[in-house]
Amino acid sequence: TTGMVEIARSPVVTVMGHVDHGKTSLLDAIRSTDVASGEAGGITQHIGAYKVHVTKPDSPAFGREIVFLDTPGHEAFTRMRARGAKITDIVVVVVAADDGVMPQTLEAIDHARAAKVPIIVAVNKIDKPDANPAKVIQQLAARGLQPSNQGGDTEFVEVSAKKRIGLDLLEEMICLVADISAPKAVLDRPAVGTVIEAKLDRGRGAVASILVQNGTLRLGDSYIVGNTFGKIRAMFDDRGRSITEAGPSTPVEILGLESMPDAGDTFLVMADRDKAKGIAQYRKMKEREAQLAKSSRVSLEGLAE
Ligand code: GTP
Ligand code: NA
Ligand code: MG
Repeated sequence: TTGMVEIARSPVVTVMGHVDHGKTSLLDAIRSTDVASGEAGGITQHIGAYKVHVTKPDSPAFGREIVFLDTPGHEAFTRMRARGAKITDIVVVVVAADDGVMPQTLEAIDHARAAKVPIIVAVNKIDKPDANPAKVIQQLAARGLQPSNQGGDTEFVEVSAKKRIGLDLLEEMICLVADISAPKAVLDRPAVGTVIEAKLDRGRGAVASILVQNGTLRLGDSYIVGNTFGKIRAMFDDRGRSITEAGPSTPVEILGLESMPDAGDTFLVMADRDKAKGIAQYRKMKEREAQLAKSSRVSLEGLAE
């Protein structure tokens, strides 16, 4: 039928791994930016969402785009998954080659497996004198991540965010793995997405980072998101540039929310603003009812004791 033509969309990749193994540095290197050194205490506090264009002319992935989500620990990912949000096509697990496999490395792998998402291992910091990438591969093979060059189905890419080694190969691998599931979307339909994070901005009010997953989001669109609603009054891309529309697999920051949504909330454009408002109010009422029921249960339990 017309208007429902599927097109290939860019893969969405979530970068996970043990603290300080270089997730943000790796994305910085890929994007040629420097987010990591500006972070308070060098710790990622919020999810960064970025779209990267593969610009190396002789790369097989030339001209393609990849969306990266940089996670602060795994709670955010778990919370979103618990809410039923499926946002990522691939998980890149970053392991520092000097540190080796650590508890959060294994957690990341568990999360990816539970979400049934393919894993690519980026063995980072290979520039370090005490780097031992072979050991990392061996440690993970023992956990069931068999490298593809040993008959398994996990791609390991040795990288250095610091020395910019292996970045092209990592991008190629991501595109290769993405081609297996070949993610698709429809351009010409009301936008659907997921809230990556939301914050209250002193000057701008409620601001949400959302990932548009299907359809095209446009300035002026009315939407429902979780139990709130709004109208796209302004929209910004991952570099803070004002934009007027965003297609599938695009992270955007939106303004014009009535109140704060939660990470993992589904975002849906609705033709009718009043209908969006009505649904939001209904959801809010249901939430309040559930909270009341819970608190009265708690107080009754208190009386019974
Ligand atoms: P969290 O978000 O706090 O979990 O950390 P992260 O995984 O994002 O690591 P981050 O990028 O903050 O890097 C941690 C430290 O490792 C920083 O001091 C980086 O400069 C350093 N680092 C990252 N990649 C490399 C690398 O390839 N080689 C070397 N030598 N150091 C690196
Ligand atoms: Na860090
Ligand atoms: Mg980080």
